[in-house]
Formats: sequence, structure tokens, C-alpha cells
Amino acid sequence: MTAAGGSEYLRAPQRTSRRTLRRRRRQSRRRPLRTAAWAAATLVCSLIAFFLVPTGHVNTRVIVQINGAVLSLPARTMVSQLQPLSALLARPGSVLDITGDVIQLGAGTEPQRQLDGGPVSATSTLAEGDSLLIRQGEHMLEGIRRVAQTIPYQYEVKGKGSIVSLAQAGAPGKRELFKGVASNKEAAVFVLRQAQNAVLQKSNARAPGQKLVALTFDDGPGAYTQAVLDALATRHVPATFFVLGSAAAANKSMIEKMRAAGHEIENHSWNHPDLTTLSEEQVRSQLKRTAEVIGSSRYLRPPYGSSNDALKKLAAGLDLRLVFWTVDTLDWKHQDVNWILNKVKAGAKPGAIILMHDGGGNRKQTAAAIPLVVDWLFSQGYSITTVKQLLG
Ligand code: NI
Repeated sequence: MTAAGGSEYLRAPQRTSRRTLRRRRRQSRRRPLRTAAWAAATLVCSLIAFFLVPTGHVNTRVIVQINGAVLSLPARTMVSQLQPLSALLARPGSVLDITGDVIQLGAGTEPQRQLDGGPVSATSTLAEGDSLLIRQGEHMLEGIRRVAQTIPYQYEVKGKGSIVSLAQAGAPGKRELFKGVASNKEAAVFVLRQAQNAVLQKSNARAPGQKLVALTFDDGPGAYTQAVLDALATRHVPATFFVLGSAAAANKSMIEKMRAAGHEIENHSWNHPDLTTLSEEQVRSQLKRTAEVIGSSRYLRPPYGSSNDALKKLAAGLDLRLVFWTVDTLDWKHQDVNWILNKVKAGAKPGAIILMHDGGGNRKQTAAAIPLVVDWLFSQGYSITTVKQLLG
């Protein structure tokens, strides 16, 4: 505050006349009235402006909701102008396979758009307070089917030796899986029951009262010998092969495979003549030539089971014992799995020697019968061994 200002303030009351004071009092009483009048005029003008002037020119933006999100958009925005937004939000569903991969893009349900609960078109204008709902199209899942399956059991082999017994029967398991009808893809596998392994016991020592049988195969090796070996391998059982020297000479590697798999190899002559019709020299040649190819053997099974005393004597001189069979499956004549199995069922007994063939023709059914034959023999309590072990 300056000294001059201070003196003016102090002087002012001295100049004010009574008349001036009265005027000032009157003026101060009128001031609230004047303010109210101005406020009323302003309100009226605003109302006129509000009703006469189009809203859009006054409010340049509107508040709307899109899928619950509050957005401020330019007034008079049309739905079609939301395309970048709606394309982002609203897409048709697709058809999916059971693993979730798309099979047909966009082939699911269409997206839905609603404006304030009603239909909406591209030219609908969004107004203040509007609520736009955009619902995505839904995916559709392909059909699903349930497939029941058997879980095969495995074989456990214990011990070593040429006598094979079933110590514990195997039990297949069960599972079900779900597959896409269109894609055929597997999505889920549920194991309902685990498979129980079969346990095979191998030994070289016979148990008291053990029921032994021998599987024998003649006339090979041939085109089906490998299939027969494979079938025997599925059940881990040994067999005895009465081979022809000529066939063995032509397929020495197959003889090695037989030996490596633990099978027994015996003499069935060089080329399958009726040995009783040959001279002593010719028989000797048939047996010796074969022995040179297959190595030492203990048994001779004469072709056609044809023998006589002279043959027995000659074979004995070569340290060969004659062996025949007790069950003739006639598999060469009846190439039928059930026929072969039924012949085994009819003829099996302890000490049985079962005759089949791996050479001499189509032996596909013989190979196919082997697992069934072995399973049946095991189920009846038989142990499977070689001729040498059987005849001791
Ligand atoms: Ni034969």
C-alpha cells in the first residue's frame, strides 16, 4: 500500500454527502434483482438454442457402448463405419476337427449384431446412449464317434530251454478312443483295462507229468518257411523242421535262421523219393548229401512215411533214427486254418508229434494256423518242445 493510497482512503468519508449515501443504498438494494433477470434471459436463450439448433451441431460426439465398452464416437457415426472394428470383433465361426484344427474356415455360425436389442443394419446411426452388441460366430465341432478296441497282451519269457510252457495266461486289455467322423483323427484314448502279459516258462528239464507235444514241419525250406518262422516266433515256441537237402542247399541262410531261432533241423532226404523203392546206395546218397548241407542230425523222417527194415537198418548205420507222426493235419490238402486247428484238437495227447508242412506248395494257412494251434495247446496244459526233447 502506498502512502498516497492510504491518504485517499482516509479522505473518502469526508467527501461523501448524505445524498450520495442514500443513492448508494438504493443501488445496492436493486443489484440482486438485476442478476436474476440476466440469469433468466440466459436460460431462455439456452433453451431456445437447445431446441432450435440441431443437436449434432452442438454435441459433436456421442457416448455409445459396444459390447459393454463405453466409447466416444463422432456424432452420426453409422454402423458401416465401424467395419474395421466390427470385422475385428465379429467373425463367423469355423468347423473344427476333434483336435481343434480348422476343417472349413468360416463355415460355422454367422456373427450376430444387435442395436439396443433390435436389428441393426450397416446404415444404422449410432446415437447417444446406444448399445451395440456384436457376438462372434461360433465354431462347430465335427461329429465324434467312440471306438472300442482290444489291447493285445504281450509275452514274457522266463528261463531258457527247448520246453516251453504257459506259466500265466495273458488277458487282453480294453480301451476306447474318440475319433472325428470327418477327419478320422483320434483325440482321446481311455484305457479301461490294462492288458495282462502272458508268461512263458522255458526249460530243458521235464516236470513230472508234463504233457509234451512237438510241432514238425516238412519239405522245406520253401517260400513260406519265413512265415512259419515268424508265426512260431510270436509264441516263442520251438519246432522241428524235416528239410529236404536239395531245398536246404538252395537256401542255406534259411537253415541258419532256423538254427538261430532254436529250432531243430532233421533229415527228410535229398529230394523226397520213396526211399523204399531205391537201392541202398541211392538211399545212402539221399541221406548223406542232405547231412552234408544241414550238419549233424539225429532223426530221419522218410518221405511219405514209407519205410521198411532195410531202411531202418541203413539209417541206424548212419546214426539216424526213424521218426513219424501221431497227428497228420493234412495241411497240404486242406489249406484252411480251422481244418488244421481241428485236426490238432482231435489228435493231441501227451507225446503227440504234429505234422505240418512249410514246403511243397502254398502254406499261408499253415502259418496262419500256428498261433491258434499253440494257443489251444497251451490252454489245454500242453508244453511245446522239439522231437529230440520229446523222444529223449
Ligand atoms: Ni514230405
